[in-house]
Amino acid sequence: MPGTESNGREVTPRPTVTEEPDTSVQLTAAPDTDTGATGTSSTWTYDGRTPGPELRVREGDVLGVELANDLPTETTVHWHGVPVPNPVDGVPGVTQDPILPGETYEYTFRAEPAGTYFYHSHVGLQLDRGLLGPLIVEERNPHVEYDRDIVVVFDDYLAEEPRLPSERGTNGGMGGGMGGSGGMGGGMMGDVRPPYDGHLVNGRLPNDPATFEVTEGERIRFRFVNAASATVYGVRLAGHEMTVTHADGRPVEPVDVDSFVFGAGERYDAVVVADNSGSWSLRADALDGNESPARAVFRYDSADGTDAPTSPSSSSNQLTYGDLHALSPLDGVSGNPDRTFDLSLSRGGGPSYTWVIDGQAYPDADPLQIRPGEHVRIRLTNRSPVVHPMHLHGHFFAVGDAVKDTVLVPGHMGQATIDFRADNPGRWLFHCHNLYHLDAGMARVLRYV
Ligand code: C2O
Ligand code: CU
Repeated sequence: MPGTESNGREVTPRPTVTEEPDTSVQLTAAPDTDTGATGTSSTWTYDGRTPGPELRVREGDVLGVELANDLPTETTVHWHGVPVPNPVDGVPGVTQDPILPGETYEYTFRAEPAGTYFYHSHVGLQLDRGLLGPLIVEERNPHVEYDRDIVVVFDDYLAEEPRLPSERGTNGGMGGGMGGSGGMGGGMMGDVRPPYDGHLVNGRLPNDPATFEVTEGERIRFRFVNAASATVYGVRLAGHEMTVTHADGRPVEPVDVDSFVFGAGERYDAVVVADNSGSWSLRADALDGNESPARAVFRYDSADGTDAPTSPSSSSNQLTYGDLHALSPLDGVSGNPDRTFDLSLSRGGGPSYTWVIDGQAYPDADPLQIRPGEHVRIRLTNRSPVVHPMHLHGHFFAVGDAVKDTVLVPGHMGQATIDFRADNPGRWLFHCHNLYHLDAGMARVLRYV
């Protein structure tokens, strides 16, 4: 399929990688068998843990992952943020048939560009059971100076099997005007966020926090991943400024902040200089829940003092998208777009529990059709009271001066505009990364025609 050339460049489908992988990994998805802090019969894991094993490769290397499905049901793996060739994107019914129980499936792709990513199941609510893990693609020539990195995966933890509110019945602990018969109505009240049993840093609850031991003077590059299913976090490291260097894996002009907020699917890298020795708490407050925060300990040298916990809301200097300026802007998205979609985000009407994009609930929703090479603009208006972290598969997009793959659209008529170049032919999901919204219809397929 030769591409059209509205931006003067040919676009061809990204070929499937056939060469031998530089790194081969075997992953097994299975119900949790151990009885650790977060182990319950409803926890599902990659290789026996959540988050699953850290996959780490160098930019440009070919990564081969063989997934063995030991779950009682079908699954897939999605490489969140990596603009892979379409056939390995891991979306059931869109890019592949689901992997049946007892089967294995091979994903092979070139790991590029460098960045902080994660992988997760793209079937139903499996991500909320624990099927997620970090994927780090290291630069060959990092432009950021650091001594080592620390990957920090935040997750919201459910002891029970996740269910849509419509399946949770009337005493499922749903707040915000969602009681009654279980019919959710079409109103704007409340959200579907489950009452989480806690928040995890690298799989650990706050009563047994992860401890990051560093050495005085070290420059630490934190790679923060929001792998939660329905939680927006405010993140703060007591006693230190953070220099944000990457947003969703893409390098930005360094910006110093005290805290940042990120939604499900977003990532930030931030460099911290260990120049204030002590024992400090790294915490992530659920901005849309009442649970106690996720917490880890950052400690070096004279580790006797403990700081007073501080909440991100007391922070004077919180990151905003306006602070983010990509070091290399996206190609092909300046000037007027070739195609614009104006899409509204809202709760569906009627008795069933749905979330919709422009009134339609996936999978019974029209694909958004685009042509190769086009500069595509999507304008989003949020006609609901809750935030939606919208994620685009297979492409990065420009939002203001930032380049990202997931954007938070604030509630109550909040807006966001994203621009991207249609440079990766195929069928790609565009959806809310709140898993409950996604599972209730808040997705569209972008289809190249
Ligand atoms: Cu994390 Cu459809 O994505
Ligand atoms: Cu949403």
